[in-house]
Amino acid sequence: MRHRQRRRCLRNAVEQDDVEVDRAWPVGDVLGRMGVGHAARSPLDSFQRAEQRVRIELGRNRRRSVDEGRLVEDRTDRLCGVERGARHDTNAVSRQRCERCFDLLDRVTEVGAECQIAAHQQEFYPERVPQPPLTEPLEIAGVQFANRVLLAPLAGIGNWFVRLQAQRHGAGGAFSEMVSSFAIHYGNEKTLTELLRVHPEEGPLALQLFGQDPVVMRSAAAHVAEHVPEVDIIDLNMGCPVPKVCKTGAGAAMLKDPDTAVAVARAAREGSGKPVTVKLRSGSTPGDTTSGFELAHRLVEEAGVAAITFHPRSAKVQHAGVPDYDLAARLVSSLPAPVILTGGLQTAADVRRAYEHTGAAAVMLARGSLGNPWLFEELLGERANGEQPTVTEIVAEWEWVMERAVEHLGAERGARYLRKFHPWYIERLGGGRNLKAALQATETVAEAQAAVQQHLAVR
Ligand SMILES: Cc1cc2nc3c(=O)[nH]c(=O)nc-3n(C[C@H](O)[C@H](O)[C@H](O)COP(=O)(O)O)c2cc1C
Repeated sequence: MRHRQRRRCLRNAVEQDDVEVDRAWPVGDVLGRMGVGHAARSPLDSFQRAEQRVRIELGRNRRRSVDEGRLVEDRTDRLCGVERGARHDTNAVSRQRCERCFDLLDRVTEVGAECQIAAHQQEFYPERVPQPPLTEPLEIAGVQFANRVLLAPLAGIGNWFVRLQAQRHGAGGAFSEMVSSFAIHYGNEKTLTELLRVHPEEGPLALQLFGQDPVVMRSAAAHVAEHVPEVDIIDLNMGCPVPKVCKTGAGAAMLKDPDTAVAVARAAREGSGKPVTVKLRSGSTPGDTTSGFELAHRLVEEAGVAAITFHPRSAKVQHAGVPDYDLAARLVSSLPAPVILTGGLQTAADVRRAYEHTGAAAVMLARGSLGNPWLFEELLGERANGEQPTVTEIVAEWEWVMERAVEHLGAERGARYLRKFHPWYIERLGGGRNLKAALQATETVAEAQAAVQQHLAVR
């Protein structure tokens, strides 16, 4: 209540122009002068904390216009020193809400409002900043991740050895490829032996399930908890856009049925007794910026979901287009649970930019990590920025993957399975069409290994 009064006080004072503001005064000082409880705290502290937040927010502010007049310009200059002189459109007025409490901060334009919001959030939600580095450990409902760079779920790819590969290169944890809750419930042999296979050196591990039936989900989650004790977290797929999945009401279709989504998440928790996380999209179609956001809140608040992985693209666009990181930032600052960011994270620079911009708790690498486990090392400071793997490193990694495929599926099935893996390594080695064609025709993994060796010999 006291906070609200203080805030209103500031807003009213600003609106009525009855506060004298000069260039030397940060917002904290204004509040202090108004006698609204700031006297005990150094105005400079308030300014410094606000400024720190604003630095984090600068990326977001860059394309926005500024300023309503001198008062805001002064505050903008003080709080966004780096932004000074950037497109000051005098007399433009806009309003903006704090994403945490939805209070409207008005009579300022967006950059001004961001500054005001930054000060306001620093004041009322100081625990949100500063953002830890990617190398710092992360805890989700008691599960400890060694760092904040995780492997994304990848259907048909993210098996035990791909997850192990990511973790050998530093990933703080991994999410499995999606597994059908129905297949587990009905005891499908391949699902139980291949998709639920875990390597003893993996971990922490989130096993991803999909399905729209709470009863089946409860049973599948209970099976996983009982038979695959290495699993730390049950992750639920509510983002898959593939028609085969959506037409059953699962995956991204759950955005349109939030009551069922909440029931499924509750069932997974109750069935497994483990922490449950959910991965979802921003919406069903481009322009839908509310359904994912609102479902994320409901899942956390009503179903006790421990974290949300947010892919800020609509299901309709699948994996194309630029993710809406502004929306992800809004979710981060409003959700009372960690948000893991996924989408558009191809290079170390992309990842760092998106991580800072959104304030997310962690990032999840997907396509950027395919045949490129070195990206984890680069992000975690174990490899110099932009340092490419050597030919020896690439070949050794490729060999390792081929051997694990034999271990997983045998020489023949392994060879067919590896056909989707080969192009990633061929590209890295600068191999041409001939090598590609030779590898696509191999019937055993040994043949594939021989083709690689032959390519290296004549290279
Ligand atoms: C081949 C492939 C398979 C995927 N499989 C899954 C999956 O099983 N479960 C899931 O939640 N997301 C899945 N995704 C989505 C990714 O986890 C990730 O969110 C998406 O690719 C966006 O990240 P990116 O743009 O950095 O690749 C898949 C994506 C790709 C490309």
